[in-house]
Amino acid sequence: MKSLAATDKAEAYAELEPRLRNLLAGEKDLIANAANTAALIFHTLPDLNWVGFYRLIGNELILGPFQGRPACVRIPLGKGVCGTAAIARETVRVPDVHAFPGHIACDAASRSEIVIPLIRGDRLLGVLDLDSPTCHRFDAVDQAGLEKLVAVLLTAGVLHPKFEATNLHTGQGDEAEPFTPYSRQADVVPLRQTNCAI
Ligand code: SME
Repeated sequence: MKSLAATDKAEAYAELEPRLRNLLAGEKDLIANAANTAALIFHTLPDLNWVGFYRLIGNELILGPFQGRPACVRIPLGKGVCGTAAIARETVRVPDVHAFPGHIACDAASRSEIVIPLIRGDRLLGVLDLDSPTCHRFDAVDQAGLEKLVAVLLTAGVLHPKFEATNLHTGQGDEAEPFTPYSRQADVVPLRQTNCAI
């Protein structure tokens, strides 16, 4: 599949940002906006086999709108790439998922991955997860571009105050199950032996 040079990639993200803004304009529904964000990314950027969201509900990440093969539904915080990025509250890039301890393989085709946390204020709302069948697919340009797209999504109000104040699992307000801040972890991506070509 076609891959993009870094300069082309930066241009691709620069074009994608206003397209996403337009796509989400005037709509605040969480599921609709997250679904369209996943679809736009999946069908615009090359060399991806999975793009989607996990929502933080209680102490686990639960599958949200996505494009790709059926995926794992629940990921405990701290587990896998998604749970690691969620706890660290920082984007995690994994050049070779086979070398990431605890990687959760939902699609055997995945070889590299990037996970971007969705954070509003001091609150973690979930993560955006992208998988590629190619090792080393995601670089700093992807990270910067995807972090901007996540900012557009959050600005569009996709995770609007009513949603954010509600625990989707119980249907109760956060008063019933207060949000617990998670500590940041440094050096969250220890690599084991890799068979990806560098
Ligand atoms: N690989 C992820 C699990 C989610 S799927 O890739 C869709 C992880 O390790 O957290």
